[in-house]
Amino acid sequence: MLSIASNAAIGVFDSGVGGLSIAAAIRKILPHENIIYVADSANAPYGGKAEHFVLQRCQAIVEFLMAQQVKLIVVACNTATLTCISKLRALYPIEFVGVEPGIKPALNASQSGTIGVLATHNTIKSQQYQQLVARLKSHNQVLSQACHGLVEKIEAAEFDTVATHELIKQYLLPLINEGADQIVLGCTHYGFLSPQISRIAGDKIQLINTSDAIARQTLAVLERSGVKNSNQQNAKTLLYSSRCDADFLTVCQLLWPNEIEQVYKFEH
Ligand code: DGL
Repeated sequence: MLSIASNAAIGVFDSGVGGLSIAAAIRKILPHENIIYVADSANAPYGGKAEHFVLQRCQAIVEFLMAQQVKLIVVACNTATLTCISKLRALYPIEFVGVEPGIKPALNASQSGTIGVLATHNTIKSQQYQQLVARLKSHNQVLSQACHGLVEKIEAAEFDTVATHELIKQYLLPLINEGADQIVLGCTHYGFLSPQISRIAGDKIQLINTSDAIARQTLAVLERSGVKNSNQQNAKTLLYSSRCDADFLTVCQLLWPNEIEQVYKFEH
């Protein structure tokens, strides 16, 4: 691993705005860590794109973050984690924290023995996801649902439109009808639709979101590597995006109030 200063920033990236949910969870428990966030919103969603394209985009982002001398990179995207984090780990001498759907906590909490997973097409078809399900499911049932079109609604901040509600119903209700009592939000974007998903699911269904667990894991890695920032100043988040217009900034400020001042162009 590189030798890195404890006052260096943490790099966080996603195909778009979804990973802001992870960055916000990190900020809550690590208020003194600066964050450099990269959203590849001009290329979102990654969920239906070819694997080599996703890897290429992730490499461009990782190389940019390493040039900013971040001390750790959080891949705040299930799709990118499951598609290529092992390749990134082999290519770059920096610590990575990844995100994968919370199947284990969902199975632990399930009374019915059936859980539903909402995720992207690429997440569900990845070998790592299939292996994770095979390893954990035992006598339980894991119903996986690819949710085409939902990421685009969140990137556009269309939370309460009829079209978004219809998409949620289309993906969610068949899982509940088959007996799922836990619904895993297996894409970091979907956390921003939690109120809408909960409302449609009803109060007997629990949503599983791993943002807080990823933040705790980030803290543990910083402590283990001895690079937690000892400086007590309040930290900042610098936002870079491949889509860099006023509407995009408005969406980010809506999703993470009082944190994002400006958006810088990510040109790579
Ligand atoms: N936030 C990404 C994830 O967790 C979204 C994937 C996409 O861009 O399709 O999978």
